[in-house]
Amino acid sequence: MTTAITDSHTAYFAFRDRLLGELRTTVLTGEQLCEAGRLIYGRPEGLSLYGIPAPRMESAGIRLLGRTTIECCVDGYAVAVADALAEIHTTLPERAGKEEPLVLDLFCGSGNFSHHLGTRLDVVVHAAELDLDVHTATRHNLDRVGARTQLHLGDYRDLLGKHPARGPRDTYFVEPPWGPAFTPAGLDLTRTSPPVPEILDEVRRSRDGLPCLVAIKTNDHIAHDSLHHSFAGAQHLRTVTPAPTLPFGANMDFHVYRLDGN
Ligand SMILES: C[S@@+](CC[C@H](N)C(=O)[O-])C[C@H]1O[C@@H](n2cnc3c(N)ncnc32)[C@H](O)[C@@H]1O
Repeated sequence: MTTAITDSHTAYFAFRDRLLGELRTTVLTGEQLCEAGRLIYGRPEGLSLYGIPAPRMESAGIRLLGRTTIECCVDGYAVAVADALAEIHTTLPERAGKEEPLVLDLFCGSGNFSHHLGTRLDVVVHAAELDLDVHTATRHNLDRVGARTQLHLGDYRDLLGKHPARGPRDTYFVEPPWGPAFTPAGLDLTRTSPPVPEILDEVRRSRDGLPCLVAIKTNDHIAHDSLHHSFAGAQHLRTVTPAPTLPFGANMDFHVYRLDGN
């Protein structure tokens, strides 16, 4: 039993290296997508985006690059976090005139999180993606599933600059690439690219002192208390912990904070 678990985890880490290496900008085949689902989530259907599980992605015309397959936030997780945010929104005052809150996905990758959050909150989400290959695949997929997301090709700071604060329900999803932040000592949020504290400063700057909500994806092993340090002065509201499928340090967690403007 122990050997089987170890073998499957070894296979996961080897496949992860290929997805972030030689297959980084390659559109995966249906077979590769099913293999990713099996190795990451324990079954092919565990990899599911835009409501489409891996075994149906190829026939549905979904294009996923290697890097996005490992970086993405799958349906089960996106729906759980969108539900948590929707519940938190009901505790916060609406803006006069009932203008919809501003919702920005600053590092959107597959755009799956934006798609589910926009659907759950019934708002148009504005999403930034810097990488042309990722953007092209995501544009294709969002068109394919009829998502309302407004996808922007460029840096997250451009998106912030275009969208001033509206009210206290404004929500930002923050998930920059991890790269060297993924260390044996855990995920160091001061070493993501860009670092999380820098991103939060940019969000605050764009809001002229108005509070907002920030959701962030991490793994289940944080290095040097860097989540706590990055969100110093913010109020922790919720943590969503999906059932683990991988060894400690490789599973996903999501956290929601209320960020004050100053
Ligand atoms: C970890 S992935 C996000 C995954 C995403 N949440 C999903 O569900 O698919 C980070 C993404 O941010 C993009 N990115 C990196 N730097 C960026 C920047 N400065 N502005 C906008 N996007 C950026 C990367 O190309 C990558 O696709």
